[in-house]
Amino acid sequence: MNHRNFLHTYDLSANELASVLELAQKPIHQLGNPLAGQGVALIFEKPSNRTRHSMEMAVVQLGGHPVYTRGEEVGIDVRESVEDITQVMSGYHAMLCARVFDHGVLHRMAAVSSVPVVNMLSDFAHPLQSVADVLTMQQNLGDLVGKTVTYVGDFNNVARSLCEASAMLGMHIRLSCPEGYDAHDNELLGLNELGAASVEQYRDVSIAVQDAHAVHTDTWTSMGQESESTEREAVFAAYQVTDEIMSLADSNAIFMHCLPAHRGQEVASSVIDGPQSKIYQQAHNRMHAARGVLAFLMGEAQ
Ligand code: CP
Ligand code: NVA
Repeated sequence: MNHRNFLHTYDLSANELASVLELAQKPIHQLGNPLAGQGVALIFEKPSNRTRHSMEMAVVQLGGHPVYTRGEEVGIDVRESVEDITQVMSGYHAMLCARVFDHGVLHRMAAVSSVPVVNMLSDFAHPLQSVADVLTMQQNLGDLVGKTVTYVGDFNNVARSLCEASAMLGMHIRLSCPEGYDAHDNELLGLNELGAASVEQYRDVSIAVQDAHAVHTDTWTSMGQESESTEREAVFAAYQVTDEIMSLADSNAIFMHCLPAHRGQEVASSVIDGPQSKIYQQAHNRMHAARGVLAFLMGEAQ
């Protein structure tokens, strides 16, 4: 059986991303239960609220049965190898989805899996989040071609995938990250190649947000980096999205955050809880985006 994986946003072409966004917004009854009578493994090495709930519900909405499994329960590379886990689970499920510390584990799964493998967040990428992010921007800003998205903070898994999706939809991308936590030149080049209208990186947040249509941020300390949190709080102190920063963006700019958020760190409470914030719409779109991605992958797995 041929199948596609979704480890990175760019595993989809720009046209395919557009199809996924259409599927995400289709009434559920028009999707035809592509997972009827089938299981989907949801393996989590890290905690989750949005990803677990949105994926479980997306699987149910497509007629399938989600099987939630903690990483330590199967003992990835402890109780048995990733390869054995994958090949065993491939015989039970229509898809294998995993949230892992090490992105390499997803590649090892994909190398031996007979069914699609989906990244539910790794240290490197969060592609499901990026589909919800661009869906939310489209719903608020309309056509994204030529619009400007600014990401403030750590160039992490969420930032990388957001930038890829935004590039594929023809947006101007501006990054504002502290030195050592920024995107490397080859990543910036890659975004240009994916179709970004432009890609710019500024240390100064106030320049990066000028006239932006959407301002995103994420936690300064991602899961697995907890031992660095004190150091990171010092490094990122100038990278908080405040009212003053939002006032420099377009007058209709929206604020977005994948959540969980840390009010008073990467974002001021007045911004994330204010009128420009779209965080709950963005979180709810995780389910619609997940349904679109899973429906697309099932359509490809013929
Ligand atoms: N945004 C996101 O992935 O949230 P969870 O970690 O709660 O799944
Ligand atoms: N960058 C964060 C995102 C959480 C959804 C992390 O990896 O912890």
